Parts: sequence; structure tokens; C-alpha cells
Amino acid sequence: MTADLDALGLRAEAVTVPGLPSLEESARYITQLGKPTAAEVLQNARLAGRVALQPRCGVGGHQEMAALLAHLEREGRPDILTLTIDSHTRLCRFDNAARALKTDPRTLNGYPLVTHGFERGRELNESVAAPMEIRHGSPDPRALFQVSVASGITSFEGGGISYNLPYSKDVPLAHSLAAWSEVDAVCGELARLGTVVDRELFGTLTAVLVPPSISLAVSVLEAVAAAAEGVRCISVSYPQSGHLTQDVAALRAVHELAARYLPAEVQTHAVLHEFMGVFPRERRHAEQLIFFGALTARLGGASKMITKTYQEAFGIPDAEANAAGLRLADIANSSLLSFIPVDEEAVAEEQRWICREVAEIVEPVLAARNLHNGIVTAFAAGRLDIPFSASRHAHSAIIPRRDFEGAIRYQSHGNLPLSPESVARNERLLAVGRPGGTSAEDLFEALQLDIDYFPQLFGEAGANGLLQ
Ligand code: 5AD
Repeated sequence: MTADLDALGLRAEAVTVPGLPSLEESARYITQLGKPTAAEVLQNARLAGRVALQPRCGVGGHQEMAALLAHLEREGRPDILTLTIDSHTRLCRFDNAARALKTDPRTLNGYPLVTHGFERGRELNESVAAPMEIRHGSPDPRALFQVSVASGITSFEGGGISYNLPYSKDVPLAHSLAAWSEVDAVCGELARLGTVVDRELFGTLTAVLVPPSISLAVSVLEAVAAAAEGVRCISVSYPQSGHLTQDVAALRAVHELAARYLPAEVQTHAVLHEFMGVFPRERRHAEQLIFFGALTARLGGASKMITKTYQEAFGIPDAEANAAGLRLADIANSSLLSFIPVDEEAVAEEQRWICREVAEIVEPVLAARNLHNGIVTAFAAGRLDIPFSASRHAHSAIIPRRDFEGAIRYQSHGNLPLSPESVARNERLLAVGRPGGTSAEDLFEALQLDIDYFPQLFGEAGANGLLQ
């Protein structure tokens, strides 16, 4: 395994970024910063029945990053701000990040925090009122996490499964799980020092047609691992499927699953990632989808939502579009909208099935003597699996499809240990027909239509030009 890691630029042994303050000093710094932690913001939102809002944002240059944060805070009033980290840093290629920073920071797709260093991280943190989160996609985030804590940043996204399989081709799961355990263990130490770091898990996974029970099963396993290391605040993020009943049920299921699988002292939050798939191109269509997502988060009782923008179909948004996305989403927080109901019976039924499928998937893994080994072995056998993964460490034998109402079901569940009853329900719902009664020639076209669901729904041609 060591040779593989060398080739990937990763190291099995401990990682220490030189020149950082001690953990005690960082904890003291966070306390005297005079702003709430991300965990406090989330808890306050949950108690107030409001969805906290957060954008993604990250540019290479330091001044540019500071300006972007200032603009978003002034124009979008987010509850939590983000440092989206560049790809070189995510892959621990710090030399490449340094080179790009020197030649042209605009070539970076995020902020290279490790290269800029913790003093600049603190400068950014002190320049805004909202607490910040690091969002990245790193299978081995140890150096990034150390600089993040030293910068006084109180929320850190990712996990040993969810930041490996969707992003990396060949990083062994045993390595990413071990690296993320180190991060979680430091969160445990910080909690003992009185500083609670929010650990948001990346339930969005590959972002395309992810069945809720896959997203939540992976999050349950990462959450159990994190709690065992002493993590005290866990945000379970879930990607909006676009089917209201399914999404509300999945968000509410987070608390049912937390009660079943996590120790009582762990604070848990449901987080909605606004639709992560193919977005409509027209601004008015994108804005309808953004507002629909925000309403979904509200009805599902999410503590937080990560917002999208009307520029989503075209790439990374500019500051103005990003702020507009926040303002639009916040309208769904209005008390005037409290008349909007959900079909409680349908949600309860869906939630029951989601929790049942999650139990069928995770309980054999949780029974393993060693959780990490259990996870590695289950993925190797396809008993754990995620759809459309580029990683050779997942089978990706699952075939998800939208049912006649647009909810995501299993057409094939691969080797997942689902019960005959769960399998039969998925088959029954898919047998009714396609969303909107459309038809497809073959599986490839059917999947393409399911992926292009929203552009289709708004009458825009999908990514492949298909319109029907
Ligand atoms: N700034 C803002 N958004 C970003 N995304 C990725 N990198 C950045 C960045 N640096 C967004 C994409 C997409 C999601 C996966 O993350 O635009 O919405």
C-alpha cells in the first residue's frame, strides 16, 4: 500500500505542518475571536426553526478571497461562510498550488489555504462576522485541517468514504478512513478543550441520482466513526433529489438515524445540498429550482442549506450571482410561508422505508469488530456501494432511476443486502412508468433523461440535446 500512496503523493505516517500554534492556543484563539462557532449557528437555527444559509466560494488570490467574502457577507447575509479549497491542495500537491499562486492565482479553482498559511486564514476569519467552513474534496485532509484549525475555522467538510470514492480513482479506503480518523480525533481533543468543531459529512457523494438510503448509509457509517473519535457536532448533508416527499423524508430521517446509531451527546444537524445535478440554463428556471430547494429544506426541518446560483449551468458563479442565490433562498425562511403543508402520511411512509433500507445496508457493517475493516471489506464485496463512482474501490453496480413521480429508486441494487421487501417496493414503483409518462429506448437514454430531469421539466434540452 505504501508504494501506491507514494505514487499518489500521499503519506501513511503522521503529517505535521510546520510553524503552527498548539491546539490549546488555537482553541483560545477561537474563543477570543468573539464570533459564534458554526455549531452554535446551526443549533440556534434549529431551535428557531430557520434554515441557516451558506454559499460555496473560493478564489486563489488572498486579496481576492477577502473581497469575495466581504461582498457575500454584505450582499447575501449568509449564516456561515465558506472557503472552497483548490484541487492541488485537495490532492496534497502543495508545490503545484504554490507555483500557480506565484504565476497566476486565477488558474486556481479555490483558495489554497495551506500555501497561504494560517496567519492569512486568521485574517480572512477576522474580516467577516459569520463563522467559516472549509469545503474541499480531499481524501487525506490532515495538513489542510491543521491549518484550518489554526485559522480558527470551526467547520470542516468531508469523510473517509465520501471524500474518497466520488473524487479519487485509486486512493485505498483504508488510507482515507485512517486520515479522516486523525481529523476526527483532533476534533475530539478540541471538544475536550471546549471548542466544538462541526464536521459536515458529504452525503452528496457523486451528486447524480444518489438514492437517499445510499447517501444516509454512508453518512451513518462516517458519523459512527467520527463520534467514536470524540466528534460532538455532526452535520449530515443530503443532496436534493427534487422529489419533495422523498427529500423531506430523507432530511427528517437524519434525526431518526442519529437517535438509533449515535451517542446522545452528539449534536446532529440535517443539511440540504441544493440540487447538485444538471441545472437548467435559463435564469428564471434556475431560480425556481433554487426556491424549491429552499422550501424543501424548510419543510424537512434542515438546520442549514448550501445554496446554488442562476449561473450553476455555466460553472463557478461570480460574487453577484452567489449573493443573489442566498437572498432568493432566504425568502423560503419567511414566516408568511408557514401555510405550506407536506403530505405527512406520504412523508412518514417514505421515511419508514428509507430508514429500513439504511438499516439493511449499515447494520451488517456496524456488526464488524473493526469498523474501518468492515467498511473496506463491504465495499470490496459490493455490500456497500455508490452509483457512478470513478474509484476502483467501489463496484458502482447500483443503477438508480427516477420513478413515475421523479423519486430516486433502485433499478438494480447490485450486491447491497436489501431485503426482498425493499427490493420489491423499488421494483413496484419503477414499474409504474417514467416521470411525465415519457419513454426511453434503452437504459443509457433512460438514465440520460433522469439526469436531465430539471432541464427537461422546464422544457430546456438536456445536456445531450435530448428534449422530449
Ligand atoms: N467557488 C464557488 N463555487 C464553487 N464550486 C466549486 N468550486 C467553487 C468555488 N471556488 C461549486 C460548483 C458547483 C459545486 C460542486 O461547487 O459551482 O455548484
